[in-house]
Amino acid sequence: MTVALNQPTAVAGTRVMGLGAYRPELVIDNEQICQWIDSSDEWIQKRTGIKTRRRAPRDVSVVDMAEGAAREALEHAGISGDQLGGVILATVTHPYATPSAAADLAHRLGATPAAAFDISAACAGYCYGIGQADAMVRSGLSSYVLVVGVEKLSDFIDNHERTISFLLGDGAGAAIIGPAEAPGISPSILGSNGEKWEAVAMDSTLLNFRDALARARETQDATELLDAENRYWPTLRQDGPTVFRWAVWEMAKVAQQALDAAGITAEDLVAFVPHQANMRIIDEMVKQLKLPEHVMVGRDIVDAGNTSAASIPLAMHRLLKENPELSGGLALQIGFGAGLVYGAQVIRLP
Ligand SMILES: CC(C)(COP(=O)(O)OP(=O)(O)OC[C@H]1O[C@@H](n2cnc3c(N)ncnc32)[C@H](O)[C@@H]1OP(=O)(O)O)[C@@H](O)C(=O)NCCC(=O)NCCS
Repeated sequence: MTVALNQPTAVAGTRVMGLGAYRPELVIDNEQICQWIDSSDEWIQKRTGIKTRRRAPRDVSVVDMAEGAAREALEHAGISGDQLGGVILATVTHPYATPSAAADLAHRLGATPAAAFDISAACAGYCYGIGQADAMVRSGLSSYVLVVGVEKLSDFIDNHERTISFLLGDGAGAAIIGPAEAPGISPSILGSNGEKWEAVAMDSTLLNFRDALARARETQDATELLDAENRYWPTLRQDGPTVFRWAVWEMAKVAQQALDAAGITAEDLVAFVPHQANMRIIDEMVKQLKLPEHVMVGRDIVDAGNTSAASIPLAMHRLLKENPELSGGLALQIGFGAGLVYGAQVIRLP
């Protein structure tokens, strides 16, 4: 006789119940950036839209920032940490390969024994996390799931390089996903293109760093030691124009797929919150999607820079704070970056 298995009972819908943000205090303006690279405030503003970005001090960790954003999101959602059944943390800058930042965060929030894991999907990490949390809640696996996008990119940039470092900032944004009577999160469009794996990438590995230090120790050579520190500590680089073209040509199509999958049109949106990579990419996507005038666009990049996994929740949090009337309306969000990877969905704003 076949023994029947229990499976969790699926719930009708899911929604974003609350948002939170953490912005480190230290502000780095373009003048400071230009002490390190051959550039100008005018060039950076014109080509990227960025005026300032924020950086966390040495003693503030990825988990510290995540906790700040998560506590606000819990309060906004009206639930406590011990009600969480899942903690998903999207980041590429947690300095431990293991254990996960999510397990530490869950413990700090009193969420133990919630399922806890990190996602490495760079600037698409938050949208990947929302897709995962939606599936966990909708399937009946977890009642409430916390999703955090957090980065301390300042630990992995070389101030003197000119392809990406001037764009990047630190911060954290968080969302609580829970059950809903009506659908509040559309099907997620998630994808990758590993053919362009090197377009945005670290320029070294920790193994290279270890070997370079070992060589320096062996030779007792000061130049080797400096080389190990400067050349082999992994920092980000990008082929800017390649990423720019990919973002402009391919990501508007993905955003349109997300609208189609949601069964709505651009007319139905109240907000568009794309990854904050470059103001020119944001403007081009708005044009290609033919967004109507009434759709408010997240433009947090001006004083947050590109905060990778944190950029969408930070921009959405700010848009809602400054325009509370958007609450209850539909927002299209899309993240894209190193991998290359992308993720998009429509959510009902809390
Ligand atoms: C990085 C980025 C801002 C560079 O802008 P761009 O317009 O593509 O610039 P290019 O690399 O084509 O270079 C154009 C000129 O600006 C110069 N330039 C490049 N970077 C510069 C900088 N930081 N400051 C000043 N000048 C710079 C180049 O030397 C070049 O000069 P030239 O015309 O005399 O040869 C842009 O490519 C970008 O935003 N890319 C995508 C970013 C992104 O989404 N990254 C993914 C992470 S999610």
